[in-house]
Amino acid sequence: MRSLLIIQDMRGWFWKTYPTPNQTKSLDTRIIVTELAKCDFEVQLTRYDRFDFSKNYTGHYVLYGSSEDYLGGSKSYMDDILLWLELHGAILIPNYKYFRAHHNKVMMELLRQDFSGAEFKTIQSTVLPSASSGQAIQARLPLPAVIKSASGAGSTGVYLARTARDMQIAIRKASCQVSGFPYTWIQLHNLLQFLKRKAPLYVNNSKYVVQNLIPGLAGDYKVLIFGQRYFALYRLNRTNDFRASGSGRFVDREDPELFQVLDFARRCHQEIDSPFVSLDIAHDGQQAHLIEFQCVSFGFKAMSLSDHHYVSTTGHWQRLDGPVVPELIFSQAIMDYVAARDASRIC
Ligand SMILES: Nc1ncnc2c1ncn2[C@@H]1O[C@H](COP(=O)(O)OP(=O)(O)OP(=O)(O)O)[C@@H](O)[C@H]1O
Ligand SMILES: [Mg+2]
Repeated sequence: MRSLLIIQDMRGWFWKTYPTPNQTKSLDTRIIVTELAKCDFEVQLTRYDRFDFSKNYTGHYVLYGSSEDYLGGSKSYMDDILLWLELHGAILIPNYKYFRAHHNKVMMELLRQDFSGAEFKTIQSTVLPSASSGQAIQARLPLPAVIKSASGAGSTGVYLARTARDMQIAIRKASCQVSGFPYTWIQLHNLLQFLKRKAPLYVNNSKYVVQNLIPGLAGDYKVLIFGQRYFALYRLNRTNDFRASGSGRFVDREDPELFQVLDFARRCHQEIDSPFVSLDIAHDGQQAHLIEFQCVSFGFKAMSLSDHHYVSTTGHWQRLDGPVVPELIFSQAIMDYVAARDASRIC
């Protein structure tokens, strides 16, 4: 019997799925528990805000979610629990480093550098901690460039710079995570500091990445991988914009390019130690480019909006039509992953 812990978030949610494009709900953990129990897993449910630190979790598998990094609040608490679990011998699925990369493009880009395949590094990033550090090396940064705040989703905090002046402005925006009332309060505070001849509070101190632009893209693919199953949707760019994420302009396409993207996604998954991955992949007509990967708490929209998916068998893509139950796909990916992990440890 294997022990497995599922940690729900502070609302009692575990990841999220889209019954309709504009509606979200938590994955139904009852289904996941029932499925895993069939495969000899003894499952315990807990929540980040009800976590019991007195128990021994050594050797327990742990399924967990994450949240967006709203001013470091709840995500930081999740971080403490997950690191504590790993230090106490629990086996996080996926590994802690992928939690660190969730809504953290700096960590994601550092993990990309460890990939062995050169094809996943057509985008090269410089990671930076503040506006001043970026401005200090601006002459060495690429142009045109894409500048991205470390956190942010749906293309928020993603800027294009064609000139040095654009770059300066984008760096200022990407490195500032304060807005609204706190921003105004800091500006007033800084005015007083100025009058008192004291140092101002620095707001451009958030981390971000600067990377080369892949030119001429009309959109990108969202590919979700669960074990052997692949869900893919093409997303057109927003109108008069280089960004596809958040456009909501999904297109279902099945052509040679899609299969090149699926092959690329399969090779990319071999670089990532997780049963499930969300990939943003662009194709410029010649080759595919990895824009982003995420392994934790990514949205299931590409699964919910697809009426078919693909299974990779012996190097060929088999199309399976019809809707799926997200919890079953998710559970199967975990069971296959743990079985493969156990098998490789016995060998
Ligand atoms: N280096 C790049 N070259 C060309 N286009 C890019 C590049 N990086 C990002 N894009 C475009 O910008 C969009 C947003 O970028 P990215 O996916 O990195 O951030 P995000 O959307 O905020 O993250 P998430 O997908 O987690 O919501 C992508 O969907 C893609 O269309
Ligand atoms: Mg993206």
